[in-house]
Order: sequence, then C-alpha cells, then structure tokens
Amino acid sequence: MKKKLLVGLFGLMMVVAACGGGGDGAGENGGDDTTANETAAGEELYQQNCASCHGGDLSGGAGPGLVDASEQHDQDDIVSIILEGYGSMAAVAGVSEEEAEDIADYVLEQ
Ligand code: HEC
Repeated sequence: MKKKLLVGLFGLMMVVAACGGGGDGAGENGGDDTTANETAAGEELYQQNCASCHGGDLSGGAGPGLVDASEQHDQDDIVSIILEGYGSMAAVAGVSEEEAEDIADYVLEQ
C-alpha cells in the first residue's frame, strides 16, 4: 500500500519534471535555442499537416506558396489561418494552438 503510493507519487513527479523541465531548460538555454527547437518542431508539424498543399519547401502546390507569407501575415494571423481556415483553405484538424504557433514560427522563418 505504502509502496504503491510512493510509486504513484514518483510517477507524478516524473510527469511534472518532464513538463516543467522543458520550459525551464528552454529559458536557461537562451532565446536562440528555444527558437531553434520550436522551429524544428514546427517544421515537422508543417511537413505533416501543410506540405501536401503548400509543398515540402513552401513553394506551393494545391495551395499558394508560403515563402513570402511573412510579408502578408504575422504570427497571430497564421495561427488563426491554421485553426480557423482562410478563404478556400479549411481549418487544419488536429493541430493545437501551441502547435500552430510552432508552425507559424517555422513558416515565418522561411
Ligand atoms: C487541403 C490543402 C491545404 C492544407 C492541408 C493547408 N493549406 Fe494553407 N492554404 C490552402 C489554400 C487553397 C489556400 C489559399 C486560400 C485562399 O486564398 O482562398 C491556403 C492559404 C494559406 C495561407 C495564406 C497564404 C496567402 O498567400 O495569403 C497560409 C499562411 C496557409 N495557407 C498556411 C497553412 C499552414 C501553416 C498549413 C498547415 C498547418 C496549411 N496552410 C495547410 C490549402 C491548404
């Protein structure tokens, strides 16, 4: 009984440590690292959710190219395009707001 409780607590601490650790680590490593990590995550999400229409290199396909998207859209704009859709583009399903922000970071850096 006591052991079970300890194991449970330990598991909980691991989860908390894993979540908190990511945030803390990013802060300690400085802004550059954080951006690089988030951009890498964004690139992966982009390839999974957007590349089929916008091209693996953002050059376009079924959708317009996004290479110069930063000239027309800021980050908030792209997040809402992803979450709510835009013109003939439907909202992208299964992407959280946080993931959308990472994708927007990636798109804007290209
Ligand atoms: C099913 C195909 C499809 C998918 C998947 C898709 N898009 Fe689009 N996207 C489009 C089309 C088509 C347009 C043009 C809409 C219009 O102008 O009416 C568009 C427009 C955009 C625009 C505005 C471009 C401009 O020139 O103003 C952005 C930014 C964008 N998409 C980002 C994304 C991102 C990021 C993802 C992935 C999370 C994504 N799209 C997934 C088809 C798609």
